[in-house]
Amino acid sequence: RSQESQSMLEAHQWLTKLYHHLLKNSKEGQEAYQYLMDRGFTDETIQKYQIGFSPNSKDFVVTFLEKKGYHPQTMVKAGLLSTNDHGDYADRFRGRVIFPLRNHLGKTVAFAGRSIGEQEPKYLNSPETELFHKGRLLYNFDLARSAIRKEKSVLLFEGFGDVITADQAGIHNAVATMGTALSSSQANLLKRYVEQVIICYDGDRAGIEAAVKAAKLVKSIGCHTYVARVPDGLDPDDFIQKNGGERFRREIIDTSDTYISFMMSYLRRDYNLQLEGDRITYIEKVLQEIAVLDRAVEREHYLNELAAEFKMALDTLKEEVQRIRGKSG
Ligand code: UTP
Ligand code: MN
Ligand code: MN
Ligand code: MN
Ligand code: MN
Repeated sequence: RSQESQSMLEAHQWLTKLYHHLLKNSKEGQEAYQYLMDRGFTDETIQKYQIGFSPNSKDFVVTFLEKKGYHPQTMVKAGLLSTNDHGDYADRFRGRVIFPLRNHLGKTVAFAGRSIGEQEPKYLNSPETELFHKGRLLYNFDLARSAIRKEKSVLLFEGFGDVITADQAGIHNAVATMGTALSSSQANLLKRYVEQVIICYDGDRAGIEAAVKAAKLVKSIGCHTYVARVPDGLDPDDFIQKNGGERFRREIIDTSDTYISFMMSYLRRDYNLQLEGDRITYIEKVLQEIAVLDRAVEREHYLNELAAEFKMALDTLKEEVQRIRGKSG
C-alpha cells in the first residue's frame, strides 16, 4: 500500500470513531440518535455497527482531519471532503446518520449517510475510491462470514438496514449489495463460501426485477438459488421490525421459492394464460429456465408439473429442453 492510501484508510477509522462519538455525545446528534431509536435499533446495535452522525457543518471534518495531519487533497481523493475551483475544502457528509461501510477485513473504507427524515437524496454515499469499489464490496461480509460458513447458507439483502435489523433479530448470515445490481465478483465471492444463496430483496417492483437478475447470476455460477418473497411495500428490515425475527425466518426465509418456481411465478404475471398465444410463449420461457437446471431429476420434476398443468405430452417438453440444452452447449 502506498503512503497515500494508508492515510486514506486511517482517516476512515478516525472518522468512524468521531461520527459514532458525536451520535452518542453531542447535542446535535440527539435527533439522529432518536431517529435510530424510532427505527428500532438498539444501543448494542449502534455500537456494534459503529453507527454515527455527521454534524451539519461546512468544515467540522475539514478541521478535524487537518489537526490529525492529513493532506486535504488526499482526503478529497478518499471521498471524505469535497473541493471547488477555488481550492476550498468542505465536509462531504452533513447532518446525516452515518453507516460505516467495512471491507472484508473489517476496516471502514467508505460511508453511507442517510438523511434524517425525508430529505433527498435519502442516501449520500462515498464515491468510488482506491479503497472502495461498490461493486466488489458486500456489506457485512466480515461479520457474517463465520455464520455463513456455519449455516451453509447466505442471505442476500438490498440494504444495510436489512442486514443490521436481521442481525439484531438473531439472523447473522446476511450481507447486502447496497442497492446496486449484484456483480459477478460479489457472486463469486459468495460462491467460495457457500452453495446456498437466498435472495431476499425488497417486496416492490424494483426489488423483484433486481432479484430476477441476481437469481439468474447466482444460478449460472452453480449456486443452490432461492428467492424469498417479501410482502409488497415492505423490505426485510420493515418486516422484522414489525413482526420479529422468528416470523421472518418461518414465513419468509423457510418458505422461499426455488429458482425455478420463482421464475415461473415471475413469468406467469406477464402472460395471460387464458390466451393461447400467451400460453405458448409462457411455456417456451419456462422450458428455457428448466433447461439451465443441471440435475436431470430437477428438470424432470418441473417438466412433469408443466405437462400436467397444460395437458401436454411429457416427451414433447423433454425433447424441447434437450434441444435448448444442446444449443447452449
Ligand atoms: P432502499 O431504497 O431499499 O433503502 O435501497 P433502504 O435500505 O430500505 O433504506 P431505508 O430503510 O429507507 O433507510 C436499498 C439500498 O440502496 C442504496 C442503499 O445502500 C440502500 O440501503 N441506496 C438507496 C443508495 O445508495 N442511495 C439511495 O438514494 C437509495
Ligand atoms: Mn445471536
Ligand atoms: Mn429497495
Ligand atoms: Mn429497502
Ligand atoms: Mn428499509
